[in-house]
Amino acid sequence: MYIFVIILTMEKILEFIKVNRKFKTGDQEILACNDLSFSINKGEFCLILGPSGSGKSTLLNILGGMDKPNSGQVIFKDQHLEVMNDKELTNFRKKEVGFVFQFYNLMPNLNARENVQFASELNKSNIDINKLMKEVGLNERMNNFPSQLSGGEQQRVSIARAIAKNPQLILCDEPTGALDYLTGKQILSILIKLAKENSKTLVIVSHNTGLKAIADRVLYLHNGQIVKTEENTTLGNVEDLVW
Ligand SMILES: Nc1ncnc2c1ncn2[C@@H]1O[C@H](COP(=O)(O)OP(=O)(O)OP(=O)(O)O)[C@@H](O)[C@H]1O
Ligand SMILES: [Mg+2]
Repeated sequence: MYIFVIILTMEKILEFIKVNRKFKTGDQEILACNDLSFSINKGEFCLILGPSGSGKSTLLNILGGMDKPNSGQVIFKDQHLEVMNDKELTNFRKKEVGFVFQFYNLMPNLNARENVQFASELNKSNIDINKLMKEVGLNERMNNFPSQLSGGEQQRVSIARAIAKNPQLILCDEPTGALDYLTGKQILSILIKLAKENSKTLVIVSHNTGLKAIADRVLYLHNGQIVKTEENTTLGNVEDLVW
């Protein structure tokens, strides 16, 4: 039984194998992903830490089907993302991925509730939107447009939107980067709680090493390569974090 549980919890959902992504500007060539290999397990919270320019956003864009590698393999369950055409990648993103960005990226002409509703309709998920808006603490602000909401409130809408789509993967690029310290911590708490409750695989990329205690696994990215991996057997609380 014990072995069975371990095998179940270690089931791979995503794998990068020797992924390269280079950018050319003028004479300069930058390897943003440099023979990058790692895997992510189903249901885990994986934190990818790296300094500015280390390749975090590039990695996340490839992982989320928004960009393609120049070489290497990107495998989600049994599907190879690197050989998909644009239509297949759009389908993959629509069905399997919820994004939470640093600057929220909400639709300005839809109110908070409509932003979330729209995402749930994309995948015909039958998530209770009113309950979800309450869970992110926005039941009083549902009819407000993004421009009428604070940064923290907009980020809560974007978390609700990612969950409402009911994807397997939630990908977050510096989700607290534009928020003050306390709001950032609140947002992280909501994000982690909802991801766990809904059995999502959560991947956060950040430069903030202060977050390392709260994830199941921490991958350290440097110059487009994973240079160290850590596992946390006991998870820290977001409330106890200091950075
Ligand atoms: N479209 C692009 N064209 C040219 N160079 C790019 C492009 N996108 C990324 N790069 C370069 O690739 C490297 C990795 O960039 P990336 O945005 O992935 O870093 P990051 O770790 O997300 O940084 P930050 O923490 O500042 O967001 C950087 O040197 C960057 O300048
Ligand atoms: Mg970035």
